[in-house]
Amino acid sequence: MIEEKTLKSIDVVWHCATVTRARREAQNKHRGAILWFTGLSGAGKSTLAHAVEEELHQLGCRTFVLDGDNVRHGLCGDLGFSNEDRIENIRRVGEMAKLFLDAGVIVLTAFISPFRTDRERVRSMVEYGDFIEIYCDSSLEVCESRDVKGMYKKARTGQIAEFTGISSPYEAPEKPELKVDTGGEELNKCVQQVLNDIAQRGIAGKIQSRKLT
Ligand code: ADX
Repeated sequence: MIEEKTLKSIDVVWHCATVTRARREAQNKHRGAILWFTGLSGAGKSTLAHAVEEELHQLGCRTFVLDGDNVRHGLCGDLGFSNEDRIENIRRVGEMAKLFLDAGVIVLTAFISPFRTDRERVRSMVEYGDFIEIYCDSSLEVCESRDVKGMYKKARTGQIAEFTGISSPYEAPEKPELKVDTGGEELNKCVQQVLNDIAQRGIAGKIQSRKLT
């Protein structure tokens, strides 16, 4: 949320849509929700979010993945990795996720989102139950040993500054809706865990009956 002092659109009046979230959800035959994946770089957030999306899509759900590496090419292309820029990154992503929620979509976000207060701010922007925080739990040791993009190596040698887990903090969720052991478990098991959790929450039903591909 933009602070009052920086809000420049005070003379703008909200226009209410006649096609409401409830009507969109009725048409979609499932609730909208924000599945907020958080964790270190290399923890498997994007992989898990996309794999969950694949299953939901095949079930006929309306979905979309917002991914840190992609969003930073466009909407957040002007932002770096200082604390200030990360805060702004998550603020914009939170606002965008809220728009998807209003569109009745299950939006899956895959951002490190290292700061607890930023994640909680997004949670507070939506109704209770709309924000599902999913902690992709993988230790720094595991992420660094995977080093899929070679960034940890660069961070250790000082070629990349302010790298999460090395030279910039990561605040793990204290009470996430779901914690998934992406550092230790197979992808399929993690996917099933997420699907079961959201089915239990009544976000998208009929999920458990389908065998994972
Ligand atoms: S966040 O901290 O603002 O949430 P975000 O998820 O958008 O980060 O972007 C993280 C991705 O940017 C990482 O997966 C990695 O590929 C890349 N990256 C580049 N520089 C850094 C850095 N200094 N710290 C963390 N990730 C970085």
